[in-house]
Amino acid sequence: MTTFQIQQEILSLKEKNDICILAHSYIAHEITEIADFVGDSYALSVKAASVPNKTVVMCGVRFMAETVKILAPEKRVILSNSSAGCPMAEQMDTDLIKQLQEMNRGFKTVAYINTTAELKTICDVCVTSSSAVKIINAMPEQDILFIPDINLGTYIRRQCPDKNIKLVSGGCPTHCRASLKHVKAAKAAHPDALLLVHPECLPEVWEQADYIGSTSGIMEFAKKSSAKEFIIGTENSIAQHLQFECPDKKFYPLSKDLVCHNMKITTLPEVLLICKGEFGEEIEINEKTRLKAKQCIDKMIECPELGLILDMGMGKSIISLTAIEELMYDYFSIRKVLIIAPLRPALETWPTEILKWNHTKHMTFSVVVGSKEKRLAALAKDADLYIINRENVQWLVEYYKKKWP
Ligand code: 13P
Ligand code: SF4
Repeated sequence: MTTFQIQQEILSLKEKNDICILAHSYIAHEITEIADFVGDSYALSVKAASVPNKTVVMCGVRFMAETVKILAPEKRVILSNSSAGCPMAEQMDTDLIKQLQEMNRGFKTVAYINTTAELKTICDVCVTSSSAVKIINAMPEQDILFIPDINLGTYIRRQCPDKNIKLVSGGCPTHCRASLKHVKAAKAAHPDALLLVHPECLPEVWEQADYIGSTSGIMEFAKKSSAKEFIIGTENSIAQHLQFECPDKKFYPLSKDLVCHNMKITTLPEVLLICKGEFGEEIEINEKTRLKAKQCIDKMIECPELGLILDMGMGKSIISLTAIEELMYDYFSIRKVLIIAPLRPALETWPTEILKWNHTKHMTFSVVVGSKEKRLAALAKDADLYIINRENVQWLVEYYKKKWP
């Protein structure tokens, strides 16, 4: 069978069997083409909670499939390949972290989402590479124990100078393969290229970067940038996906060794077998573990600092979606939006644009339509969110710039 034939069969089987395919951006391109949703760890977590299908196939690694099961326990959640673990997520166990917590009493434990469900049960809040700085900055506590990635932790520490952050020496074996030597060689070979780096890389690498961010952040930056050449300092599939999406630009992997074998183990023919019910591993998590781990993930998803309230007024005074997208998503990575409007017709002018935005920008929307009281009640509930309309957009930008210069 050809790649195209396999893709067609997957598309019809997933429709017939009510399957949703989620894929992390490190997965092979021929799989991302047939996935219902592709994103970074944060976007996948948010999506997991709202998928309507009975079965969810996670093309990624084990902690990602666990996150889906934790957030959507009523669904059949299939990990695409049972060998796909994440070495970083499995580096530390609860005994070690409990000892560290004992030695650092009064510290809040912040877990990178790349941790097992078991480990999340003893942590206070989860973060991803795209949400970590904002969530930690928004926490009232000063003393933070961050596990397990020392490189991402060092990056967060620099971005949150007011916090007292203790780190442990875990990390991603893939991203650790890139060094300053690779940066120098890549810059010498491509002097006009911008360097875009994932914070899981060593500090000596991201210190040289023009942009530091999550997998989705890197992709969005490259797509929007007016530059034509980019050195990609994360798993090499990102350079490949970008080359497909932006044929007029050039993307160079920072190092040929930036390959995550756990992400590469899932193949397109295997996804076909999964859709036939003949492959993959169904994820089971005991209810006690699930509920405790969920608290930690819920805190991340609910973090008000990730939110934005869009006040549509009567539908006239609103600034364009493109302007909001550029300011809020690209610059500040805001992904949760509450839309308030007095009348349903005000919303009807935009539905297709919003749907497109929702799909491509990995944002989630809630809508409150109704009387002033109803809208005010929604605002009071999410008091830490911000209203955006034509009048206050500039103020909002200044506010965020001060907060995250
Ligand atoms: P993202 O949060 O950027 O998706 O990163 C996940 C990951 O595993 C990176 O190695
Ligand atoms: Fe885990 Fe690193 Fe692979 Fe990401 S790239 S899944 S952190 S091993």
